[in-house]
Amino acid sequence: MPAPLLKIEDLHVEFKVYEGVLRVLNGVQLIVNPGERVGLVGEAGCGKTTTMKCILQILPSPPSRTTEGRIFFNERDIRQMKAHEIQDVRGKGISMIFQDPTAALNPVFSIGDQLTTVIRCNSRTTLSKKGIHQRAITALREVQLPDPNRIFDGYPIQLSGGMRQRVCIAMALATEPELLIADEPTTSLDVTIQDQILRLLNELVDEHGTSVIFITHSLGVVREMADRVYVMYAGCIVEGAEKSELFSDPLHPYTRGLMSAVPKLTGGGIAEGIPGRIPDYLDPPSGCRFHPRCPYATEECKAERPELTRIRGSHEVACFAVERGEINAQ
Ligand SMILES: Nc1ncnc2c1ncn2[C@@H]1O[C@H](COP(=O)(O)OP(=O)(O)O)[C@@H](O)[C@H]1O
Ligand SMILES: [Mg+2]
Repeated sequence: MPAPLLKIEDLHVEFKVYEGVLRVLNGVQLIVNPGERVGLVGEAGCGKTTTMKCILQILPSPPSRTTEGRIFFNERDIRQMKAHEIQDVRGKGISMIFQDPTAALNPVFSIGDQLTTVIRCNSRTTLSKKGIHQRAITALREVQLPDPNRIFDGYPIQLSGGMRQRVCIAMALATEPELLIADEPTTSLDVTIQDQILRLLNELVDEHGTSVIFITHSLGVVREMADRVYVMYAGCIVEGAEKSELFSDPLHPYTRGLMSAVPKLTGGGIAEGIPGRIPDYLDPPSGCRFHPRCPYATEECKAERPELTRIRGSHEVACFAVERGEINAQ
């Protein structure tokens, strides 16, 4: 087994705000193997974006503070790297596509200016001016934008949301990163466009052999996009497994709740879902953060945080009820 491309160990991040300290990430653990497409699902506010920004070391500090944890990229701890080494990781190693393509592009520079700057600063090889231009046009063509030369000279405001996101994808992949982080890349787009963008992303990462972390709050989307899936709840990874295993044999009560909350095409309305809501990070629940919403919760769950434990193969779950044998793998 080759070493993981990315390995996050016990990551804790908090934000200092006016009201106090938001203890958001609570021991995140996550691995991406070379060539793997990993899905990260969880409801809004569970800390998905915070985890990714921490990998790239782009969380504003203050208000954020990483109190514990290690983030290995190609077996080197990003948190111990010097500024220029982190810059290298951001440029050549890991690219990120954000939820909102409008905010990700600078309105006062042309698409061509922004794309060629990214290519010039981050290419592994030194390219001539012509070579950079060619690479940019190829990147725009790859994301199936019509008339790449016209787009190259245009400005973000002249493009639709879907076209802007295609430009962001072109930018993220133009430098052939080892890892692509796609953070809810279709959430801000029309439903009809979402599908096209997802299909395009899938094709491109296949062609380039890029490893991916695909973030979404939708189980349907993760099913299309990932080989292996992690489920996140209130700053913790509560379960991880190969996609087929996660969907056929979910173990954590939160994962089970998420699955039952998906409306069925065959009707019957929305199933019961999960009562309660994500906790307040100013004063998060002790022990397992899911315990106030969990039908299996005991004193043990209130007192101690369950560790992510391997059940079989790559299936891991952080739950005392599973350890106690109250929830069984099939
Ligand atoms: N810059 C910040 N300042 C204060 N709190 C923040 C900041 N960024 C994120 N948070 C808090 O961290 C929590 C997780 O946010 P986020 O990582 O964006 O969740 P997700 O991406 O899963 O929707 C939220 O409750 C949010 O309030
Ligand atoms: Mg987010």
